[in-house]
Amino acid sequence: MQDIRERLIQALQAAKDAAHVEQIRIDFLGRKGLITQLAKNVDFSKLTADEKKGFGQKLNELKQFATEKIAAAVDAYKETATRHKTNDLDLTAPGKGRRLGSLHPITLTQMELEDVFQGMGFSVLYGPEIESEFFCFEALNIPHDHPARDMQDTFWLKNQLILRTHTSANQVRTLRRFGAPIRAIFPGRCFRYEAIDPSHENTFYQCEGLVVDKNVSVANLIATMRVILSQVFKRDVKVRLRPGYFPFVEPGFELDLNCLLCGGKGCPTCKNSGWIELIPCGLVHPEVLRHGGIDPKEYSGFAFGVGLTRLAMMKFGITDIRYLNCGDLRVNEQFSTLF
Ligand code: PHE
Repeated sequence: MQDIRERLIQALQAAKDAAHVEQIRIDFLGRKGLITQLAKNVDFSKLTADEKKGFGQKLNELKQFATEKIAAAVDAYKETATRHKTNDLDLTAPGKGRRLGSLHPITLTQMELEDVFQGMGFSVLYGPEIESEFFCFEALNIPHDHPARDMQDTFWLKNQLILRTHTSANQVRTLRRFGAPIRAIFPGRCFRYEAIDPSHENTFYQCEGLVVDKNVSVANLIATMRVILSQVFKRDVKVRLRPGYFPFVEPGFELDLNCLLCGGKGCPTCKNSGWIELIPCGLVHPEVLRHGGIDPKEYSGFAFGVGLTRLAMMKFGITDIRYLNCGDLRVNEQFSTLF
């Protein structure tokens, strides 16, 4: 028995894995195992009652000892097996199953713009997409019979409200609500009755800007635009102003950006002109200020309308506007790497 006990201890010490331990269990405790055989090799008829009893006790002790040692060895292997698994766990591996969503390229561009403008002391305000004719047109110096309305045909609701055609609809709302001085942007969705093609959509985004204060001039407008655009495109940009007509600004401009692709030499993107038409803008028309309850003799201001959809397309190199509203998640997934 002592011999078997020592052989068992040695065998368990040499065991390399769980299968090995199982073999040891069979060798010692199995039906033909060393311990089981011990009882069979004894001729009990030759033993006294005391000897039988003593033998039985010793045998049971040995069995119990073997059972416990083997069970402990099995447990030890289970533990190492799980520990191995934990060590193999690669926490940086991509997860399985449901993926996280990704932000839309317009959302990304809007968030960036909001950030830059907020850094310059602008508030971010959101106006309603369903607007009254008054705020969308009349308050902006576009009366009922004005030809400028033809450019912005839109969707009329049964209750005489409309889907706003531009974020400029927020100008007079904001002036009435907050008065002057004010520095704010209004990003948001706009709608027009458009024939859809690679560069026209019935649903698109703009980001309006409005600054009203004492002694605001065109110089302030240009400086602000240059800072904003340099930050959005992450490099120094050159801009120029051309006259442009909008009934709610006077004077009115088209702000062009020196083409970032060719540096102004001329390329297909800028149609060989070296300039990209980017932001309509101007000084707020006195009539608009009056509608907003502001005295034009005391205050002046500038307004601009960034084509947010257009900007996102330029920033991410998206060639067809229709991708943006198509609802295909593969569009979004490409651009979220920014975050
Ligand atoms: N709201 C004008 C448009 O959508 C753009 C604009 C905004 C022009 C602000 C001047 C000042 O066409």
